[in-house]
Amino acid sequence: MGSGLSAFGSPVKPLSSLRSGALLMSGATGLVGSGLVPLLRSAHPDRDLVLLTRQPTGFPSQGCFVLQADVAKPNLGLPNEVYALLKQQVRQVIHSAADIRFRIHLDESRATNVDGTRHMLEFAEACPHLERFLHVSTIYVAGKRTGMVPERLPCPLAGFVNTYQQTKFEAEQLVLERMSRIPAAIIRLSSIIGDSRLGSVRQFNYFHQSIKAIPWNPLPAIPADPEARIDLVSSDWTIAALHLLFEECFEPGRIHQLCAGADRSWTVGELLNRTYDIFEKHHIHLRLKRRPRLVPYADFERVVEKMSSRLPSSFNEWLGALLSFLPHLSLRQQFENSETEALLAGRVPFPSLDSYFLRVVEYCVSTNWGRAAAD
Ligand SMILES: NC(=O)c1ccc[n+]([C@@H]2O[C@H](COP(=O)([O-])OP(=O)(O)OC[C@H]3O[C@@H](n4cnc5c(N)ncnc54)[C@H](OP(=O)(O)O)[C@@H]3O)[C@@H](O)[C@H]2O)c1
Repeated sequence: MGSGLSAFGSPVKPLSSLRSGALLMSGATGLVGSGLVPLLRSAHPDRDLVLLTRQPTGFPSQGCFVLQADVAKPNLGLPNEVYALLKQQVRQVIHSAADIRFRIHLDESRATNVDGTRHMLEFAEACPHLERFLHVSTIYVAGKRTGMVPERLPCPLAGFVNTYQQTKFEAEQLVLERMSRIPAAIIRLSSIIGDSRLGSVRQFNYFHQSIKAIPWNPLPAIPADPEARIDLVSSDWTIAALHLLFEECFEPGRIHQLCAGADRSWTVGELLNRTYDIFEKHHIHLRLKRRPRLVPYADFERVVEKMSSRLPSSFNEWLGALLSFLPHLSLRQQFENSETEALLAGRVPFPSLDSYFLRVVEYCVSTNWGRAAAD
């Protein structure tokens, strides 16, 4: 086969040696995907893995076929002969690629999250031997919906807090539409805050940015309902549970919510108090200000308006970033997970937030939120 059919990575495996029954995965270089690949490999050493990435250079192939691809492009940006070969050999697909930025324009977010999902589905539909298609989603497709968010049904619309939520919702709609034609399932993940064993953080998201705001928050009040619950999970648990659900419990048409659920989540009040306690006990040198009052969202807007002329210009940028998720602190939203928990049946023990929260906060501080290498 020509050079277009060679797999990237080292050692290079020629794609012509790809065997039937392969698993194709997007997002393998991401937080979730990179944890999943070793589990997929060790579960079925005889199953070939085809990993898609926009930048194969330097990505360790781990014995897999690593292909340069772009899910936002038709045919995943693959040469026709590669696409044709993959269609014949692939039996399983995991679509984990996404643009997880909250603040980008809707069109930019749609390009990867919606068009990318459409192209992955088109590929799956063209595979004559497809056995399973897993779409990795987020519990926040629920957007601003309050109350209990069910596991099985698509969420009715209640508006979205950011473009990421909206485009992941739209992507789910595409998967749901195809469920009558292909064996597809959806697993919605919760917010991953770090590794429960080490406290290490690979991806600094809104949760970590809010912690960062604590030492220098200039506002006397923040919009939050102290009784609202925030669903947080560890990366090790999420990846192990996702793997188990895919390998052993895959059922076409299912929607799983891989999350803490209400009973294992802290309230916003508890989360803020515990975080302030950690800072006040261990990081007093960060010159903490008084703990802000928790106020309803409308009151917060008035506080910001009153203060904005007295605050530095960087404040608006900071506030803009916070506003892409801050509304969640005021939403009484819970996520159903009993059916998924029954399937996991304690086989992947859930580490309580209590057991690793301090380690994650310490990791953020000691690495200056990822700017410096951790000791
Ligand atoms: N992390 C969380 O807390 C969390 C929570 C809920 C749901 N999720 C969902 O879990 C999935 C994985 O998230 P993650 O945290 O692992 O994301 P991540 O660390 O930001 O990685 C994103 C992945 O998507 C790939 N990707 C992005 N655009 C692509 C494109 N145009 N073509 C091909 N690949 C592309 C990237 O590959 P290259 O850069 O190598 O091309 C990378 O592997 C996503 O569907 C996300 O919505 C994550």
